[in-house]
Amino acid sequence: MASQHDASSSPLQPELYDQVFAPVEAEMLAWLDLPPGARILDAGCGPGVMAARFTAVVGPSGQGDALDQNPQALERAREYLAGSPHAERVQLHQGDLLRLPFDDESFDPAWASFVLHHIPDPVAAARELRRVVRPGGRVVVRETGVPLRMLPFDLGIGEPDLQDRLRVAHNRWFNTIRYAEPVDAPYPFGWSQVLRDAGCQGVTVRTFWLELLPSFTAVQEQFLLDSVQRHLDKPELRALLDPADVETVTQLTDPASPYYLLARLDLHVLAGLSLYVGTVG
Ligand SMILES: C[S@@+](CC[C@H](N)C(=O)[O-])C[C@H]1O[C@@H](n2cnc3c(N)ncnc32)[C@H](O)[C@@H]1O
Repeated sequence: MASQHDASSSPLQPELYDQVFAPVEAEMLAWLDLPPGARILDAGCGPGVMAARFTAVVGPSGQGDALDQNPQALERAREYLAGSPHAERVQLHQGDLLRLPFDDESFDPAWASFVLHHIPDPVAAARELRRVVRPGGRVVVRETGVPLRMLPFDLGIGEPDLQDRLRVAHNRWFNTIRYAEPVDAPYPFGWSQVLRDAGCQGVTVRTFWLELLPSFTAVQEQFLLDSVQRHLDKPELRALLDPADVETVTQLTDPASPYYLLARLDLHVLAGLSLYVGTVG
């Protein structure tokens, strides 16, 4: 996909990610307490997983619209939704979040997940989301609150605190692919400020936690292994690690190694996904 939706710019492979985070997303949906019959917008929908989940909770009279600028993302969404019993109530649209092809006051909520960080002017994007939300409705922005971590401080191999060095490498790499074009002066404030600057009221945040100890399901194992393996597979990320850390990651991801990640019983998986919510006056 184009750099705006390099699947790898998502925290991890989107479908795998959504399977692992399904219980967390169920909690989010319960907390949002959407009324039956609501019309929701999933802006920057990617593979469309959340559009399907939203539409499932708003009942047979509810409706979802899922928009993405990337035709390949929409193709994936089409394939994903083909397996959903709610597919006929989700309309897919190709378009730009900055110029939404919808009337004013059409939705509640307008949801944008892991999208605004790709847009150089996130306030303009949030303003556009606000425009299409009905009075009293909500703009909801999902972003990473606390990045995934699972490794103990001392692994018995390499320098302690590999997890933080992996995170630093990831952040440095992510900063290079964050925008499709170079941006002179990125908006320098956090997500609650974005919503306030876009004119939303009563801005609030709630973080939802994934917390796991072994043993893991096969999907969780695949997800956890991928989250480490990608530092070897992605040359740009690998180049940002010390050779000693590359060796440690190699050992962690080798099933034949005594340091194999999935043989450890001391992993503690922790990740926080934050929902920033603003109300439209
Ligand atoms: C990291 S993916 C997130 C996908 C999905 N929302 C999720 O949570 O898994 C970001 C998505 O936003 C889309 N996107 C980025 N900028 C956009 C824009 N200006 N208008 C519409 N879609 C956009 C990309 O094409 C991509 O599919």
